Amino acid sequence: MRAEGKSVGFVPTMGALHEGHATLIRRARNESDVVVASIFVNPKQFGPNEDLSAYPRDLQRDLAIASNEGVDTLFMPDVDEMYPAGFQTVVGVPDLSRPLEGEHRPGHFCGVATIVTKLLNMVRADRAYFGQKDYQQLLIVERLIRDLNISTEVIAVPTVRAEDGLALSSRNAYLSPGERAAATVLFRAIQTAEAYVEGGADDPNTLQARLMALVAAEPCASIDYVALVDPETLAPVRTLDGRLTLLALAVRIGRTRLIDNALIAPPGVPRVRARVSR
Ligand code: PAJ
Repeated sequence: MRAEGKSVGFVPTMGALHEGHATLIRRARNESDVVVASIFVNPKQFGPNEDLSAYPRDLQRDLAIASNEGVDTLFMPDVDEMYPAGFQTVVGVPDLSRPLEGEHRPGHFCGVATIVTKLLNMVRADRAYFGQKDYQQLLIVERLIRDLNISTEVIAVPTVRAEDGLALSSRNAYLSPGERAAATVLFRAIQTAEAYVEGGADDPNTLQARLMALVAAEPCASIDYVALVDPETLAPVRTLDGRLTLLALAVRIGRTRLIDNALIAPPGVPRVRARVSR
């Protein structure tokens, strides 16, 4: 395809496709001549006590969504093809991998960085599409692409949400009806943070305490983290005034671990990261 001068857009996924994935695919479809998607539930990014074996898989549905959205090539390698006997190389992005998810999922981002590097090298797309839903993953992918001179451009796609604000996720399938209702607490925290800075308040500690109390008020919720950090370095911020801040949350609803995030901007500060959002 490249030899024919066609541009290639690539959407890597772990399957159990939903409207979030479909939005990435549509963006790729609009911007590229050829759309490649991958489905690979990457064992190296799951911890020993995580949900690798339970991760939702629905191949027939995934095939229908991919073909409806106009995917030209669906790459579905098996584990032995990606990690044959003797495989040992790892890709690490240590500083960006340390906080937030890194504290709760050791090794996770090393698995992500390794598989994304492999996929990007195999597909050699012009553009690859990643969701802001997994913000830390997006930062890590941008970093490794620059550091390893990979010529694919990253396109960051805004988080797709259900009507009540819950970010779409393959893991939402684990939620019981009661848990599904409680899961809106992540989005309610985002709205509370937006209202806080829009009202002109600027103390991250006060806001964090308020958000922790809001989440803790849901009986089936338990907090992994609620953090207000710099959107480029992920270091904690001392003030919310005059700058863009990332609110990142990880909350267990029953046994299901959900993450969400939002860029929080005080009045007059644009809510977009100039470098990646376009
Ligand atoms: P997966 O969770 O399947 O997500 C694939 C892509 O879809 C990621 O870029 C993710 O950020 C994006 N995505 C998921 N939910 C979204 C939503 N609600 N709105 C917008 N985008 C959304 O992320 C992975 O797989 C893996 O770590 C992978 C990058 C494929 C490496 O294994």
